[in-house]
Amino acid sequence: TQKIIIDTDPGQDDAVAILLALASSELDLLGITAVAGNVPLNLTELNARKILELAGRQEIPVFAGCDAPLTRKLVTAEYVHGKTGLDGIELPMPAMQLQSVHAVDFIIDCLRQHPEGSITLVPIGPLTNIATAFQKAPDIVSRVKQIVLMGGAYFEVGNITPAAEFNIYVDPEAASIVFASGAPLVVLPLDVTHEALTSRGWVEAMRALPNRCGPAVASWTDFFERYDREKYGSEGAPLHDPCTIAWLLRPELFEGRQINVEIETQGEFTTGMMVADWWRVSERPANALFIRHVDRDGLFALLSEKIALLP
Ligand code: BDR
Ligand code: CA
Repeated sequence: TQKIIIDTDPGQDDAVAILLALASSELDLLGITAVAGNVPLNLTELNARKILELAGRQEIPVFAGCDAPLTRKLVTAEYVHGKTGLDGIELPMPAMQLQSVHAVDFIIDCLRQHPEGSITLVPIGPLTNIATAFQKAPDIVSRVKQIVLMGGAYFEVGNITPAAEFNIYVDPEAASIVFASGAPLVVLPLDVTHEALTSRGWVEAMRALPNRCGPAVASWTDFFERYDREKYGSEGAPLHDPCTIAWLLRPELFEGRQINVEIETQGEFTTGMMVADWWRVSERPANALFIRHVDRDGLFALLSEKIALLP
């Protein structure tokens, strides 16, 4: 099994990513670290606990991390995810407690305590917690097996500004630290996640599952879909964050290239832009496996198979 830490700002698509991980015996989820992003930190950590209880996995610890980007004011996305960040279905207040340790210290301790190269970080929100851990404890960078993250874009460019994707835009300084760190990176950008669109048939199949989690996924998807339908005229909701977990489980469903990726932190119009050297026109060395395509049918078959295993 692969040991992972999910760093997240749930988020309906974050929730589906977490459920996919919980359903997969190939993965050992050591903990969930919450970060401010889609909604403020007090809601993202609460949502993480609600999701774990929905799946009956309250033994997995949840840690609260940074409540604001490294240097900027927090930008949130209630217009996509709703007031709670997890609109679509009302979940009970969780009984499980938040851990008292800060998420950044949990990440540092975990990487120091486990064998070198054994832990994969899966950030599916702004990169503030990861960058803060790297700044506070530079010795952990070389201990990370890999970082599999959702963020950025190449051809699809931006969803929060014309140039930038939300997770990178919220904390470009943090993203820049992570991309310059030397840790092996796998990037699932909007190019891929806009191919990961739910279909009516799949959502109805989730709703019909004889468990709690399937119908929850259907309700979240219904809520999340509204934004993309109105904004882009697309059919279906893009399951951005689950692509990271799906890549860990079934990398053969994805296509990408090892290239150089840099983060713009200063542009007048392009702050938070991911500059991906897809055609390798610069001399800058490759620092990331940048994914461009996913086999949509394969992805949704995997999700169906796994979500059906949950309570
Ligand atoms: C990313 O931003 C968030 O709104 C989603 O959860 C996803 O992580 C997509 O740009
Ligand atoms: Ca997210």
